[in-house]
Amino acid sequence: MRSRNTCTSIGATLLLLAATGTRAQATDEASAAAITDPTTQCTPYGYAPIAASNTTGLWPTVWLPLTGIQPNDATAQAKYNSFSANIPDIAPQGTLGGSLNTAGYDGTTDPDCWWSVSQCTTPKVSGLNPDIAAVPEPRTLGYGFDDGPNCSHNAFYDYLTEQDQKATMFYIGSNVFDWPLQAQRAAADGHEICAHTWSHRNMTMFSNEGAFAELYYTLEAIKLVTGYTPQCWRPPFGDVDDRIRYIAAQLGLETIIWKYDSFDYTAAPLSQIQGNYDALIADVASGTFDTVGAIMLTHELNNFTMQLAVDNYPKLAAAFDYLVPISVAMNKTQPYVESNFSLPSFAEYTASRASTNSTGGSGSGSSSGSSSGSSSGAASGSTSTNATKSGASTGSSAGVALLPRTAVALTLALLGAALCLCSL
Ligand SMILES: *[C@@H]1O[C@H](CO)[C@@H](O)[C@H](O)[C@H]1NC(C)=O
Ligand SMILES: *[C@@H]1O[C@H](CO)[C@@H](O)[C@H](O)[C@H]1NC(C)=O
Ligand SMILES: *[C@@H]1O[C@H](CO)[C@@H](O)[C@H](O)[C@H]1NC(C)=O
Ligand SMILES: *[C@@H]1O[C@H](CO)[C@@H](O)[C@H](O)[C@H]1NC(C)=O
Ligand SMILES: *[C@@H]1O[C@H](CO)[C@@H](O)[C@H](O)[C@H]1NC(C)=O
Ligand SMILES: *[C@@H]1O[C@H](CO)[C@@H](O)[C@H](O)[C@H]1NC(C)=O
Ligand SMILES: *[C@@H]1O[C@H](CO)[C@@H](O)[C@H](O)[C@H]1NC(C)=O
Ligand SMILES: *[C@@H]1O[C@H](CO)[C@@H](O)[C@H](O)[C@H]1NC(C)=O
Repeated sequence: MRSRNTCTSIGATLLLLAATGTRAQATDEASAAAITDPTTQCTPYGYAPIAASNTTGLWPTVWLPLTGIQPNDATAQAKYNSFSANIPDIAPQGTLGGSLNTAGYDGTTDPDCWWSVSQCTTPKVSGLNPDIAAVPEPRTLGYGFDDGPNCSHNAFYDYLTEQDQKATMFYIGSNVFDWPLQAQRAAADGHEICAHTWSHRNMTMFSNEGAFAELYYTLEAIKLVTGYTPQCWRPPFGDVDDRIRYIAAQLGLETIIWKYDSFDYTAAPLSQIQGNYDALIADVASGTFDTVGAIMLTHELNNFTMQLAVDNYPKLAAAFDYLVPISVAMNKTQPYVESNFSLPSFAEYTASRASTNSTGGSGSGSSSGSSSGSSSGAASGSTSTNATKSGASTGSSAGVALLPRTAVALTLALLGAALCLCSL
């Protein structure tokens, strides 16, 4: 005969199993996107395509600042070799692990167009495009978020979907590999994905090859996980000079920066950070953006920054005429190297929904026309009204593991309860 204690402990174990089963991570984008509990969202999970593609050590270690191309990565090496002789002869501005060395730099002549010193966005080296620091459309906000994908972003992305609002997401390569299903959600929801480097360090500190690797492996990570290769990037901390711009340009990347900073990522008091949002909003009213729109630095970093974005969305939408992904404001309808995803032009985006300042958000019917859900290859100018992620499958097809696992655990728990009843 089983003792009562044993019975209790079997029951507890089985209940724990049941709980674990209920909290199991999903294995595909749709089931991951449906998880509401942040702790469950942030429970690490494996993703077979990453492991399968790393048999030869092709991928760097996540969060490691990169000093160069992975050994034996002939493809990356060939790409780098194709332009390395022409990289502007500018020394790294400091050493990895240390701080930026601005002391000996002449910020007045600013020979390297080093943003960290001068906020320079017009390169001195010829042939480089100016950075995008504001969107050209008047009374328009280029709406974007840095540092994702954050594991717990479902409430935030749910909110954006409810508002029928797309944004530009600047994804860190290491976060993409840590949270691939979350990264897939951005693609499925029709957001625009840009690169935000592998390890999120100041880019001007890297060697030429290290800087290349930070961008190259981030693009490859986003491609592996979402199927898309971005053509835009944002330097962490805004730290870019003409050497880094040149390397980014060789990878087909436009540099996107900002003129307004929410400082939402700092430890500043909420009142101060809210004040930065309020100042931007006040500038709309005072006519600052009547000829050229705005870009503000905001983050998908953690619950604080995402909740702040949610809380401010109605105010931003009421103040600006339009909130759009940055490529939409640039009429860049093919944001990726691949042609099977298209964004609407600015005119298409704004025609397909009422001005944000008259509706304040959701319910206006047709959405912005992402075609991420269709995998048929039908591409440009799509005005599909079905931009929800329901039909989207951006890569993995591992299927539904959540339900069966929960069911098994619940069955076990019931079995345990029955066993205990019998033995008492
Ligand atoms: C890929 O493999 C290398 C070598 O085993 C390892 O150092 C690295 O951490 C792995 N990267 C990822 C993202 O799994
Ligand atoms: C990057 O440089 C800025 C100064 O421009 C500094 O505040 C920041 O801490 C640096 N970040 C890292 C990761 O070194
Ligand atoms: C993502 O957000 C959660 C919730 O705030 C936070 O605990 C976590 O540290 C964030 N992850 C990263 C990588 O910053
Ligand atoms: C922030 O956390 C609170 C408490 O867990 C939660 O109710 C809220 O939905 C979260 N906000 C976002 C945007 O994730
Ligand atoms: C939005 O509202 C402002 C006044 O607050 C007005 O000048 C502007 O024309 C409106 N935009 C649209 C597209 O309705
Ligand atoms: C985008 O297209 C509109 C016309 O639909 C035009 O007015 C605007 O100047 C274009 N913007 C850019 C950046 O090309
Ligand atoms: C888009 O096309 C690329 C190949 O060009 C493919 O790898 C990717 O899976 C496609 N993505 C979607 C969502 O169809
Ligand atoms: C949208 O989805 C519905 C069914 O969910 C379908 O009947 C309709 O044809 C779709 N519209 C477009 C434009 O794809």
